[in-house]
Amino acid sequence: NSERASRKDDHVRLAHEQRGDAPGANAFDDVEFVHHALAGVDASRVDLAVRVGEWRWSTPFYANGMTGGTEWTTRINRELAIAARETGMPMACGSVSVALDHPEAARGFAVIREENPTGFVMANLGVGRSADDAVRAVELLHADALQLHLNAVQETAMPEGTRDFSCWEASVERVVAASPVPVIVKEVGFGLSRRTLLRLSELGVRIADVSGAGGTDFLRIENARHDSDARRSGHDFSMLSGFGQSALACLLDAPEGGPALLASGGVRNPFDVVKALAAGAGAVGVAGSFLEALLDGGAETLVPLIERWVAQTTAILALLGAAAPAELTSTDLLVRGRLAEFCRLRGIDLTALATRSGP
Ligand code: FNR
Repeated sequence: NSERASRKDDHVRLAHEQRGDAPGANAFDDVEFVHHALAGVDASRVDLAVRVGEWRWSTPFYANGMTGGTEWTTRINRELAIAARETGMPMACGSVSVALDHPEAARGFAVIREENPTGFVMANLGVGRSADDAVRAVELLHADALQLHLNAVQETAMPEGTRDFSCWEASVERVVAASPVPVIVKEVGFGLSRRTLLRLSELGVRIADVSGAGGTDFLRIENARHDSDARRSGHDFSMLSGFGQSALACLLDAPEGGPALLASGGVRNPFDVVKALAAGAGAVGVAGSFLEALLDGGAETLVPLIERWVAQTTAILALLGAAAPAELTSTDLLVRGRLAEFCRLRGIDLTALATRSGP
């Protein structure tokens, strides 16, 4: 347990250290809106609520799965749960595997329900666990949904990670069938491709969070956790740097008729939230940016940040002429740079995107 526990602390510490003073440029910078000066609406009539599956969320963004189980990360979960309660924002916890295997770690997750008894809470589990584990994960938090994460790139970069991904489809199917609440399949920062989304649909998955590249980077985090001995013996995968797709690439590449989409990965501010919504996300997940606020001053810092994000997201929707997030899907999107190159290679019609609102 202590090895796995210290990995939890390492992830938080390294995610924070590698972020530096400011988050870098990413694919969100490759998307712009066409400005229509007479298109705006009254901000007081903008309603930010979104429908995700059978749920209604009052904020179009949520705190994505991060942590829990150690003393430090339990404090982080408590502060996050308080902030979620105070703002009505949905939230997820990090993987509860550690608590399923070591009951003494359960408090690090149960604390979320203690602080946030009626809010929307998602449990989180890695693919490969049993049907029974899925049920226990949900029960631990009385969760409203279960996030099931696919993290093949991260596992590859972990010396102790699995090298057998062949049983993952069967595992997804098993967990979906067993879970008493809807399952949201997510990546951890490398994206879900068109093919993956179609396959998930066939496996019974109704909601997926594409969680793409450009924010928290688990290749870099895992590489930094190795000592120089491990690096010398072939455990350094920094050569894969840049692997995977951004959230926007995934959204633009997503199939018709696939799962309902959530997006995350590299969301730095409310404008990124709006861009993801405009590209087809039903709601937007934020991990690294909210972790920074939590480490800075807990709920006392995160609550005002969320309130600012709500106010600014509302203002940007009014500017763009959208009275609700769903209306953003008829805004004109200009896609440039690396993201445009991805779209061209994948046969995505960029002109159609740039002229969605008509003449
Ligand atoms: C994560 N993430 C994550 N995801 C998951 O499904 N289970 C987990 O246990 C964790 N653990 C975790 C720890 C820390 C410290 C961070 C910052 C993130 C991944 C997270 O949910 C998200 O998919 C990625 O971080 C990309 O989003 P951001 O961070 O770029 O907003």
